[in-house]
Amino acid sequence: MLIVSDVDVLRQKISEWRLNKERIAFVPTMGNLHAGHLQLVKEAKTIGDRVVCSIFVNPAQFGPNEDFERYPRTLEKDRDLLATEGIDLIFTPSVDTIYPAGIGETTTVTVPGVSEGLCNNFRPGHFTGVATVVARLFLLAQPDCVLLGKKDFQQLMVIEKMVSDLCFPIEVMGVDTVREADGLAMSSRNQYLSVEERKAAPALFQVLQELADTIRDGDHDFRKLEREAEEKLHLAGFSVDYVAVCQRNNLRAAVSEIESLVILIAASLGKSRLIDNVTI
Ligand code: PAF
Repeated sequence: MLIVSDVDVLRQKISEWRLNKERIAFVPTMGNLHAGHLQLVKEAKTIGDRVVCSIFVNPAQFGPNEDFERYPRTLEKDRDLLATEGIDLIFTPSVDTIYPAGIGETTTVTVPGVSEGLCNNFRPGHFTGVATVVARLFLLAQPDCVLLGKKDFQQLMVIEKMVSDLCFPIEVMGVDTVREADGLAMSSRNQYLSVEERKAAPALFQVLQELADTIRDGDHDFRKLEREAEEKLHLAGFSVDYVAVCQRNNLRAAVSEIESLVILIAASLGKSRLIDNVTI
C-alpha cells in the first residue's frame, strides 16, 4: 500500500494503472475511519481493480465556529485499518497541495438546487466546500467510480449532480449506512458524545423509523409529522435543526402524491451534531 501526499507521485501511479486499463475505485474521507468507511472500502474492492482512499480534513467545508480544529486526526490508526483492507494507495495531501492559491483564492464549485435548504441553512457554504474539494480530488485521482455513504444523503446528491453537470466520467455509488447495534449511524462525530448523550443518541434513528412507518401506514400530512417528530426529539434531549420529509430525487419538501421519499434529520446532543435519514 502506497501512502502519497505529493500530486506528481499520485498522478504517476494513477496513469500507470489507467494505461493498464485498471478500474480505479475511489473513497474520499476525512480520516478517523470507522466501520462505515471500511464498508465503503470493502465495496470499492469488489468493483475496482485498484482502490484509492484520500484522507484530508478539508478546512473549506467547516464553518468558522465548527469543529475543524478538534476534528479527530488519527492517521496511523487509519493507515493500519486500510492496510488490513488491502487497498492500493492512500492520498494524504496537505492544505497547500489542495488549495495552492489559498482557500479564499481558489476556484470553487457551487451546486444549485440540492445544495440549498436542509444542512445548508445551518452550515452555509458547507456544500461548496465539499463540492470544491471533491472536484479537485476527482481531477487528481481520476477514478472510474467513487463510493460515498448514504448517511450524508444531501452530500451524496450534491456530488451526483456535480458529476452529472460537469460531465465527470465517474460513476457515483451510494453505500448503505452502517449502524451501531442500537441503530445509531456510525460517524466520527459520535465520539464527541458524553456517556449520557450516547445513551440518548439512538432516539434519532427510532424517531426516523417511527415517522417512516407512519407514512407507510398512509398518513401523508408531512408537515404535521415533521413537527411531531421534532417534539419527540426535543423530549429525548436533542436540539433540532430540522426534520424534513422530502422528495427523494430533488430534496424539495414532499407533497402527498410523490411516492419516492427521503426523511432527513439533523439534531444536536450537546456539542455533537448528528444527521441521519431513511428512504421510503
Ligand atoms: O464525507 C466526508 O467525509 C467529506 O465530506 C468528503 C466527501 C471526504 C469531502 O471532504
